[in-house]
Amino acid sequence: MKITFDRTHGLLAAWLLAALSGTVTGHSWPEQTIRLAPNGTMVGKTGTERAHLPTDAGADFKIPPNGGLVQPTDKIVRDSQGKLTDSSYSDKFPMLSVAAGDFVAIKHRENGHVTRADVTDKERPVNRGTIYLYGTTENDLSAVNLMDVHLKWTSDGKGGNGKGKLLATRNYDDGQCYEKVPAVGDPEGISTTRKKAAGVDELLCQSNVQIPEDAPVGKVYSVIWVWDWPLMSAQGAAVPPAIYEKGTEGIVVVAPQLYTGVVDYKIVDPCDDSLGSLKGPTCASGGGGSKVQFAADQPAISRGIATQMAEPFLVKVPQAGFDVPSATADPKNIPLAALIGVTPAEFPLPASILQNMNKGGGAGGNNAAAPAPTPAPGSEDEGDVVVTATSIVPEGMATETVTRGGAAAAANTDAPKRRTNVHGRRQYR
Ligand SMILES: *[C@@H]1O[C@H](CO)[C@@H](O)[C@H](O)[C@H]1NC(C)=O
Repeated sequence: MKITFDRTHGLLAAWLLAALSGTVTGHSWPEQTIRLAPNGTMVGKTGTERAHLPTDAGADFKIPPNGGLVQPTDKIVRDSQGKLTDSSYSDKFPMLSVAAGDFVAIKHRENGHVTRADVTDKERPVNRGTIYLYGTTENDLSAVNLMDVHLKWTSDGKGGNGKGKLLATRNYDDGQCYEKVPAVGDPEGISTTRKKAAGVDELLCQSNVQIPEDAPVGKVYSVIWVWDWPLMSAQGAAVPPAIYEKGTEGIVVVAPQLYTGVVDYKIVDPCDDSLGSLKGPTCASGGGGSKVQFAADQPAISRGIATQMAEPFLVKVPQAGFDVPSATADPKNIPLAALIGVTPAEFPLPASILQNMNKGGGAGGNNAAAPAPTPAPGSEDEGDVVVTATSIVPEGMATETVTRGGAAAAANTDAPKRRTNVHGRRQYR
């Protein structure tokens, strides 16, 4: 069945809803960060992203800026975030100090992209896009293009130009975040349901990421946040397929759309006073150790998310060494997995869906330990990891984005039976 959707009307509706509810009309960007103790509790001061703006105007950065395809010269962050200078942070908007091996939460506002996506922005992936977190000690991003980094840097640090690595992949919808229930109501029912669970007016989304254990003391470690939020040809795709190209068959990317930002961390000695009472994992006294023992029974507003602390790659991508041709995800990690393949969804969402949203193993309950991570890349046991969007993207593309050993071989084996989107690739390779 072909679903037609009036984009202009949809965007207008989103704008109107946002305007009426008094929230910003922009998209999203990383805007706060805080350390997480090994039990998931947020500890210490809050830091901000690089060149935090006092108002929201201009804070989001979209690629490609004017639609069309991503170009090789599209910069990875906005101009004012390019160079790290003395004025990139201030007393009011500080850079966070962390120890190597610390977990941090990087927060963003969902801005309606989680709680109103099904009404106003239908043809988007059900995980509300994928956030890629890249890390580097090369802090000057002013000449760095999105394509130098995104889908190139790998988890082993050897991909692309080797100047950084892929640290984590996250579902933009973390399973618990929501904004204020707008004056015009809550057509999906998501905000209302989540508000009941978390008990606060609104809750920022978060991406938990571990600062590498080898991050050098005395240096600044930059984490680049890339939200892949493509417009798809239909509703119901689980995750974005990890390509820049538009597709030609199946549920495919119609318009690539990415938003980015960068958050810097001052890497201090694990026993440094600036860390407060909880020291870094390797500090002999006062350090929490590096073992995650997630305490789920604490308020959502002041803790991380269990599945994220257990598993760096909630969306499996070849760049993280997974033997997959494109992006895939286990539906149990996608909060609204019940909407995968559903078109059109009925509103408000039925209680069966709302009550059974996957919450990331963090909300309520008494599970003291974080859930067991899924098998490591390269291991034989891929267990319950299922392929979702992969079968419906032009996977000839996957061979271009794959750079590593086993994953590359797997993608190449698959390639002959797939069609290569020549149209897309000529324009910028
Ligand atoms: C978690 O650990 C922190 C730091 O050690 C501690 O202050 C906090 O009370 C703990 N929270 C829970 C719920 O165990």
